[in-house]
Amino acid sequence: MNDTLVQEKARPPVAGDDVVIRIEHLKKAFGDNEVLKDISLELHRGENIVVLGRSGQGKSVTIQCVAGLLEPDEGNLEVLGKEVKELSEDELKELRSKLGFLFQSGALYDSMTVRENLMFPLTRVLKMKDEAEMEKWVTDVLESVGLEEAIDKYPADLSGGMRKRVGLARTLILRPEIILYDEPTTGLDPITSREISELIVKLQEKYKTSSIIITHDMACARIVADRIAVMNEGAFIATGTYDELSKSPDELINNFFK
Ligand SMILES: Nc1ncnc2c1ncn2[C@@H]1O[C@H](COP(=O)(O)OP(=O)(O)OP(=O)(O)O)[C@@H](O)[C@H]1O
Ligand SMILES: [Mg+2]
Repeated sequence: MNDTLVQEKARPPVAGDDVVIRIEHLKKAFGDNEVLKDISLELHRGENIVVLGRSGQGKSVTIQCVAGLLEPDEGNLEVLGKEVKELSEDELKELRSKLGFLFQSGALYDSMTVRENLMFPLTRVLKMKDEAEMEKWVTDVLESVGLEEAIDKYPADLSGGMRKRVGLARTLILRPEIILYDEPTTGLDPITSREISELIVKLQEKYKTSSIIITHDMACARIVADRIAVMNEGAFIATGTYDELSKSPDELINNFFK
């Protein structure tokens, strides 16, 4: 086995002022349920941050706020230099087009082939019309995720890992600057999980994207994380590299690494 593949990522730190997402003292409640109490986090350009936390702590709610799918009650949220709450509907739409979201389910259309699933955002979102150009975008992105041969298949004919790849291709085809991943490896066997994790790193390098990746999969965290942020009871209680946090004296934190 190639040992370098399972090594924790080692990268030089990124410049401090190149922040693509700045979350400051974000709060979000649903009725009496105060989910996000005081969330602060910065994502730097080119960086992959992994968010760890027990079930129900508000990880998905946090990235849904970032993606503009949920509105925070309080706090500041700056994405690509823009304060989200100050944006008009049109500006918000423009900003959202720079964000990719990979849902847990992959959310492919079962009645469409892989090609059609990938063409769909091109016609719908980018309003592209040139068939030859769209075909090129589709084949390019399928090549990036290693799935050229699946172009005419239906989602039902694909394995779970292949469906994740198509889901990733569909996120990538709109060329987002930031990708938010909600549990990208859940439900996959360890070998496929590792392939997807390695793909996430490859795509980060190829497309220069910045990402927040929610996962419970520590093998995935180890492969993809430049930094890890641990969420507990509605706030981030620690951030650091995999190596730093795995040595934390705080039991709540180092429990994730056992
Ligand atoms: N749209 C919503 N309306 C009401 N409550 C919600 C909504 N979305 C999330 N919640 C509540 O917010 C809390 C946090 O949910 P969230 O999905 O963010 O947890 P999580 O950390 O992602 O957990 P998991 O690891 O299980 O995915 C839960 O109590 C959940 O019931
Ligand atoms: Mg979740």
